[in-house]
Formats: sequence, structure tokens, C-alpha cells
Amino acid sequence: KWGLETEWLGKSIIFKEKIDSTQDVAHRLARKGAEHGTIIIADRQLSGRGRMERQWISDDSGGIWLSMILRPPIPPHQASQMTLFVAVTLVEALERATGLSIQIKWPNDLFINGKKITGILTEMQAELEAIQYLIIGFGINVNQNIDHFPEEIRDLVTSLQIVSGKEWNRTNLVQTILQEFEEAYQNYIDNGFELVKKKWIAHAYKLHEKIWIKTTQASFYATVQGISNEGALIVRNENGEEKLIYSAEINW
Ligand code: BTN
Repeated sequence: KWGLETEWLGKSIIFKEKIDSTQDVAHRLARKGAEHGTIIIADRQLSGRGRMERQWISDDSGGIWLSMILRPPIPPHQASQMTLFVAVTLVEALERATGLSIQIKWPNDLFINGKKITGILTEMQAELEAIQYLIIGFGINVNQNIDHFPEEIRDLVTSLQIVSGKEWNRTNLVQTILQEFEEAYQNYIDNGFELVKKKWIAHAYKLHEKIWIKTTQASFYATVQGISNEGALIVRNENGEEKLIYSAEINW
């Protein structure tokens, strides 16, 4: 049905019309030993989850709601690299599939024309010094029109249909994404994070533009320069000093 030409990613794909959250199903399956590369896709989610306990609206059909179970041979402290790797890979796959220009807003939102098109949620189960599994979930707004979104967020979000004026075949998009993902994953595991960092910079939202950052210690103007190996945002303040941002409120 999915017509995939992958070796391990999506060898097992579980599709549900309606589900609470693909993320939760993925956790259950992973705990029972589901293999590396298992994918869960839903047409609708009744309680889709976003980062920081936020809700992810996905109870209507129209988007791609997907979680994957990965068992990468990397230490737990490198898990944040995986999130950035996923963002970079999704950007490239979506740009190739749609011809649209897409940016990454740190840490892991994908933006088109300054509005959110995709969110990524990485959850890890680790024991001692090893990752048991990662659940990487992403939601891509595809065929929703603007009325689909609650009024409070209409200025902040968009979909492929809204920006391009046409409907997209979700199966084809999933195919492109998974095929590209498998190839890029191997490259990341074999060759490390350097290439991901370069690609991240090539797609960084507001690269070198002035933004306002508020951390628990300070607030200041800065410009985005790149990302570190730990997944921190590298910025330069107005005195020309580089700072690493691990978590902050940012006014873009
Ligand atoms: C965010 O931007 O806060 C992340 C959103 C992640 C949404 C996806 S949709 C598929 C998977 N299942 C969920 O419940 N959440 C993720």
C-alpha cells in the first residue's frame, strides 16, 4: 500500500484511521520490543501531543501524523542531535517533494513563509548509558484549510495546501520522507553530525537576523549563528560574543 523502497524503515507500518496519539501507541509497541524502524501513522488523532505538554490539533483528517520507533547506537546525551537531524531531513524531503522553500526554527519547528507547518516531538527511553528506544513523532500540516485551525492560532500556522493552493497526496509524501530519512540516517550514524550542522545552517529561520532572547539568567539581543553538537543554539550577542542557548524564550 505504501510502495516503500526502504530496507528497514517502515518494514512494519501500522496505520489507524483514528487513534489517541501515534506517540502513545509507539511507546506501547516499543516497550513490547517492536523493532527499529517501526512506524505508526494515523489519519486522525483524538489527543495529539506537542512539546511542553501542549496539545497538537489533529482530530480532523488532512495532515500526516506519524511516529517512528528508532533504536540508534548513540549515547543518550546525543539524542537531541537526532531531533535536529530529523528536522533537517524533513526539510530536505519536503522541499524536494513540494518545491517549496522551508526553514527550521530552533529547536524543531518547520516554517514556511514565517508560519509553522510541522512540529517534531522526540521522546527517549534510556537505561544506564544506553538508549532503549527513541520515539520520533512529527505532524505535518498538509491539506487543511485555514478554517480548520482554531482562531487563536490562525496567524501562526499554515499547511501545504494553504501555501501552494493545491491538494497533496499524503501517501506520496510519506514515501519520499521515509526513503530520504533512511538514507540520511545511515549517513548520520556512519559519519556523524557535521553534515547535519551545515544543512541546518542552510535552512535556519532568521539566520543572522536580530532576535530577542530571554533565559533564566539574562535577556539580550543576538543573531543566530548555528547549532552545537549538543543541539544548543549558537548566537552572537551585541558585543560580538558567542553564547550557547539550551533553553530560552525567544522573540523571533
Ligand atoms: C510540537 O510542535 O510541539 C510537536 C508536535 C508533534 C506532533 C506529532 S503528530 C504525530 C505524533 N503524535 C503525537 O501525539 N504527537 C506527534
